[in-house]
Amino acid sequence: MQILPKLDFTNSAFNNRASKIALITGGDGTIGHKFVEHLITRGWFIHVVTSSRTRAEDFFTSHGIPNGPATKLHFHECDLSKLDKVAQFVGDFKKENLQIDLVICNAGVLHPRDMWNDQAVADGMNVNVISHALMIESLHPVLARDNRILLVGSCCSHGAFVTKRMIKSGTQLLYSAAGPYQAYASSKLLLASYGEQLTLSMRTSHPGHQVITVHPGVVPSGLYRNTNPITRFATAFILPFFLRNAEDAALLCLHTAFRDDLPNGSYCEDGKVVRCGTKFDKEDLSAIYGLIQKEVQTALSDKKNL
Ligand SMILES: NC(=O)c1ccc[n+]([C@@H]2O[C@H](COP(=O)([O-])OP(=O)(O)OC[C@H]3O[C@@H](n4cnc5c(N)ncnc54)[C@H](OP(=O)(O)O)[C@@H]3O)[C@@H](O)[C@H]2O)c1
Repeated sequence: MQILPKLDFTNSAFNNRASKIALITGGDGTIGHKFVEHLITRGWFIHVVTSSRTRAEDFFTSHGIPNGPATKLHFHECDLSKLDKVAQFVGDFKKENLQIDLVICNAGVLHPRDMWNDQAVADGMNVNVISHALMIESLHPVLARDNRILLVGSCCSHGAFVTKRMIKSGTQLLYSAAGPYQAYASSKLLLASYGEQLTLSMRTSHPGHQVITVHPGVVPSGLYRNTNPITRFATAFILPFFLRNAEDAALLCLHTAFRDDLPNGSYCEDGKVVRCGTKFDKEDLSAIYGLIQKEVQTALSDKKNL
């Protein structure tokens, strides 16, 4: 049975670009570092947003990938759960005057159940959704004309419980304490919905930008560090024999992001466009986008007022 589509990196959208510069959040994570390895071997320059520069430097050095000034790999330390820090990072990054060809919104977190409180709810939503929206909205001026934006989503979004009434409730939708698994699923659904609506809002202002949300597959990874002991044991020792590995997941996501035959704003699983959030109509998508935008604008204006 063929699960992965044929992965091809010969198309001109990937290869024949004036420049090849990528910004990747969580680029030192399980799937993230495979994006980095793959892109670097194909001549790309990478900027990784990491929660720990020292750890990222050690990690890539131990993997034989040179990093730092005069190399192809650069690190930017930023805690994505803190929107003021994200706004600061984006402001500084823009001063580097780079033109970005690919943005991979890969960082993600599933919070521990035993530390589940209002702060954890906000942190999770910020990492999984709002920080990435903030980066995309602020980076518009430095994105290449034919830029690709890859949002790393999750099939968990099918299990999210988000009703029209919740959407109408405003920011409560983003920050309600539904429990870690439900909050993770909702955040990934909101991320895909944001991506879909983003393409509509950019249709005239940035017609060359392509946004695709991709489920990478289920991969044993650091994401599961906060799950219960049985799941952690199975994920570490049993499931690796059955699940997708991080390299295949990263290749699938990249391949999907650079395809030219997908409708802009699609959500994809295993190379196929899948409807995410079946119950959402245009009004819902626009309301979700508006809520996320509001958080982004608040974070940006808070930074200006500092
Ligand atoms: N693995 C799967 O089965 C699976 C399935 C569906 C979707 N996904 C998605 O795939 C993406 C990659 O996940 P993964 O499986 O590779 O897990 P991972 O190894 O835990 O990678 C997640 C990355 O996000 C970073 N991150 C988390 N919180 C952050 C914060 N506050 N500030 C900065 N960086 C932060 C992590 O850094 P730290 O280590 O410093 O926290 C790590 O580098 C995620 O978006 C995840 O939701 C994964």
